[in-house]
Amino acid sequence: MKRSRGAKTLVYPTPTWIVGSYDKQGKPNGMTAAWGGICCSDPPCIAVSLRKATYSYASLVNRRAFTISVPSQAQVKVADYFGLVSGRDTDKFAATGLTPVRSDLVDAPYVAEFPLVLECKVLHMFDLGLHTQFVGEVLDVKADEDVIAFDLETTGLFPVVARIVEFGAVRFRLDGRVLGTWEQLVDRECSIPPEVTDIHGITDAMVCGQPTLAQALPGFLEFLGGSDAILLAHNAAFDLGFLNFAAAKSGWNLPANPVVDTLDLARSCVRGARSCRLEDLVVHLRLAERKTTGHCPIRGW
Ligand SMILES: Cc1cc2nc3c(=O)[nH]c(=O)nc-3n(C[C@H](O)[C@H](O)[C@H](O)COP(=O)(O)O)c2cc1C
Repeated sequence: MKRSRGAKTLVYPTPTWIVGSYDKQGKPNGMTAAWGGICCSDPPCIAVSLRKATYSYASLVNRRAFTISVPSQAQVKVADYFGLVSGRDTDKFAATGLTPVRSDLVDAPYVAEFPLVLECKVLHMFDLGLHTQFVGEVLDVKADEDVIAFDLETTGLFPVVARIVEFGAVRFRLDGRVLGTWEQLVDRECSIPPEVTDIHGITDAMVCGQPTLAQALPGFLEFLGGSDAILLAHNAAFDLGFLNFAAAKSGWNLPANPVVDTLDLARSCVRGARSCRLEDLVVHLRLAERKTTGHCPIRGW
């Protein structure tokens, strides 16, 4: 039995977008908007509804342009802030430390730190009542590209007989910003030969009692977060061989991320290094060796 709730705009979910615009003086501003959505596929259009009372309203009318910056989950608090104060009396970008970037396609700024941006030219304005709906043609969508550099340490060379004993991964953007790291020692099903311990420094005692591979693998897949990020590994075939074998054994599917092998890159781009082993590249390219733990396999990133 359904109960009437009255004539309300009760439809969910609604987005949390930052509508970016320039005021009359050219100062960048942004406001949170939840009243918006896709409204046409050809031409690609989205609509946002703004009250005339907002400072942004006049900016959209005057400049006939706006951007939509979509925050990540971690950025919802700051996105909310853009809806609590007005650009009339506060410079929200200065207050939050976020960076306004001038769009090269439309006369409006977007938020550099937010992962997804749409640049829109105002096609129509509909005075609906309290809200005016701005229909914007999307001239471009810009999305951040994440890269995940990862490395595995194992008990040997071949996945059929050897086992993974450590995962190490770092997610970063091409501007160098590190977004997260993930490390996990793994309890092995066979002991680590001393000559292999000499290479990576991991002993049986260190991994004893750690999660098994079947327990650790979901954590790694969660860190990958789907197939969008570019995977970076040195001698990627080695690591992917172990990963694929482990995933098949545990009944998981590995996402089909694009992969870049830094060994191939080094072989074609680096001249004068002793070898293209990671250790030699770190010395040759003068990369400070940054170990996140005493035994971390992520070297040189
Ligand atoms: C989550 C959230 C969603 C909002 N959605 C809208 C909206 O869709 N339309 C609107 O006119 N105001 C909306 N607001 C309120 C404006 O963001 C708020 O009035 C803001 O201060 C306007 O900024 P401005 O004066 O700098 O333009 C929302 C606020 C929040 C917190």
